[in-house]
Amino acid sequence: MKVLVIGSGGREHALVWKIGQSPLVEKIYCAPGNPGTATIAENVALQVDDLVGLLAFARKEAIDLTVVGPELPLSLGIVDLFEEHELKVFGARQNAAIIEASKAFSKDLMKKYQVPTAAYEVFTEVTPAIAFLDKLGIPVVIKADGLAAGKGVIIAQSRTEAVAAVKDMLSGNAFGAAGARVVIEEFLRGEEASFLAFTDGKNIVPLASAQDHKAVFDGDQGPNTGGMGAYSPAPVVTPAIHAKAMAEVMRRTVDGMAAEGRPYRGVLYAGLMIDGDSVKTLEFNARFGDPECQPLLMRLKSDLVPVLLAVANGDISRVELEWYDQAAVCVVMASQGYPGDYPKGDVIDGLEAAAKLEELVVFHAGTAMQGGKIVTSGGRVLGVTARGKTVREAIERAYRGVAAISWKGVHFRRDIGSKALK
Ligand code: AMP
Ligand code: GLY
Repeated sequence: MKVLVIGSGGREHALVWKIGQSPLVEKIYCAPGNPGTATIAENVALQVDDLVGLLAFARKEAIDLTVVGPELPLSLGIVDLFEEHELKVFGARQNAAIIEASKAFSKDLMKKYQVPTAAYEVFTEVTPAIAFLDKLGIPVVIKADGLAAGKGVIIAQSRTEAVAAVKDMLSGNAFGAAGARVVIEEFLRGEEASFLAFTDGKNIVPLASAQDHKAVFDGDQGPNTGGMGAYSPAPVVTPAIHAKAMAEVMRRTVDGMAAEGRPYRGVLYAGLMIDGDSVKTLEFNARFGDPECQPLLMRLKSDLVPVLLAVANGDISRVELEWYDQAAVCVVMASQGYPGDYPKGDVIDGLEAAAKLEELVVFHAGTAMQGGKIVTSGGRVLGVTARGKTVREAIERAYRGVAAISWKGVHFRRDIGSKALK
């Protein structure tokens, strides 16, 4: 088989790495990919939003399966387009990817189908929005409706901050059109977990549990990022919490989407807030989480390709996933300044030394090849991911890898996984 993976982050490197282990696969392409995917796949210089170019490439190369990593092409309808041309593709169709592309849509869906979530309302005007946030009190959560690369959520700790966020979003200054509508919601306390499942629109096969670290600094301080590290399994997802998440979140959402005429096929990612035995949904994503995908795929024992094919074919009733007992931890190495502005083009040292470490893979995200050297080219640069018999061992291994790698201005959190040790 020939497989095309779309995207260029740590998630896509992890997908290419896992797909590359399948005996079913002869050749992998990655568009546009990065220097990490280039060691396994052939990178193709096509951007993720170039739907016409990607379609032409897939037809010309007779690609047997296309796997879509990021949300942007899903929300642009790449799956619909490929299906119209009878190409097999893994991912949510446009009318289902809206579950991530519009927070107002997903909140209304949750309300309609009794999926537990924070109290909220949707606004397009400043005055009623401020009246509602005054009713909720501080802290309060303000979310841009549309896609904002994981940065469209403000947790306001003062009324001044809340009012400024609402005005910034609704005026279009922050996030452009994505902020033309805002969701204002109740602040929830607890511990977060990422709950992912494959679904064909009817059957649901959950992945192992995972937890992300969204804030940029240790101790969950500072602004939210796309994710500074992740681990699996997440002890906060006890068997009771798992059962509740399956019944009240996944089942109701998959059935609700089908009832809305938007059958969901792909991987559905629920961001959960867990507090005692309460499980509430913070958001949905229509794709694999990044960095969660990296530790999850390192723990997956089953061949991923038949699973992706079964989803693409619309029947996962016979899919079973097998996992390694080991834990896996991913530490993201980022550019200084991320999630704000950051420098690019700094030479990364130590990748060869890190590659020699056992049970460890350095997944590339924002890297580029320049004059024969690998340099930084994005906010999240590498995902150093390791397996261990326990979370503690996986943490130690991952940080051994991190210690081997350096560049000018590297930033990473030193507490990834520590919540799992409590
Ligand atoms: P979202 O993109 O909606 O998941 O929001 C990004 C992050 O903001 C989440 O992972 C949480 O850390 C935080 N967050 C979102 N909604 C809430 C909420 N209602 N209460 C507390 N934290 C939240
Ligand atoms: N790590 C969070 C996300 O992928 O949205």
